[in-house]
Amino acid sequence: MIITVMKTVEIKVAGKPVKARAGETVIHALWSAGQAESIKTGCVGGVCGSCTITVRFPDDRLGGTDLACLCLVEEGMEVFPCSVDAVTPVVPQPDPTPEKLRTAYPTLDRCTKCGSCTIACPMAIPVMDSILRMRSGQLEAVAEDFVTCIHCGLCRFVCEDRVQPHNMGMWVRRSIGASQKLVEEQTGSTNWEQVNREWEYLTEGNSGQRLEHARRFRERGRIEK
Ligand code: SF4
Ligand code: SF4
Ligand code: FES
Repeated sequence: MIITVMKTVEIKVAGKPVKARAGETVIHALWSAGQAESIKTGCVGGVCGSCTITVRFPDDRLGGTDLACLCLVEEGMEVFPCSVDAVTPVVPQPDPTPEKLRTAYPTLDRCTKCGSCTIACPMAIPVMDSILRMRSGQLEAVAEDFVTCIHCGLCRFVCEDRVQPHNMGMWVRRSIGASQKLVEEQTGSTNWEQVNREWEYLTEGNSGQRLEHARRFRERGRIEK
């Protein structure tokens, strides 16, 4: 009989030591340690955006924001729960324009282009570039930018200028969606076959595969198997 001994590592969560098995996620380590309540948890698959954390490494690697259900433990890693409070969304407006967006979110012009939101995003969304697209009226592109947004709120959490990027991204998506019925009635041109293919691609497989699909779709702008 072969007995496999799992390597144990020690991490700290909010300053408290936690023993974990090498290769498991921060969430699973906390569950095993009886500390499930330390970090908010939902889907445990990288899609609900509940389990937001910041991470610091013992070596000189740059730490940053992450999702505890995807982040793998490492010896000496320090984890800080940072749950992001929800904010009330602004009602969408059909046929959105930058002016309507500014009225809904006067925070749009506060962006100082620091780039922190883009670095913080676990879904590799070009958040800062999208803010600039909002300002210049490229709202269809903005809607595409935020397709894979899981509303973890980390882009908002790190923004010192309180710009609320993902709330604006969702406002744009909902506003375009609110106009879509009219467009379809006028043109009948929605390519549902393509929409369905993309939807199947984004939702098939296990949680790791779904995340990988979302990231690839984000990077390439199309389905590539
Ligand atoms: S973190 Fe805020 S100020 Fe910095 S680029 Fe993003 S939206 Fe702009
Ligand atoms: S855009 Fe913001 S809210 Fe959406 S996934 Fe990225 S960090 Fe999270
Ligand atoms: S628990 Fe849903 S994203 Fe981590």
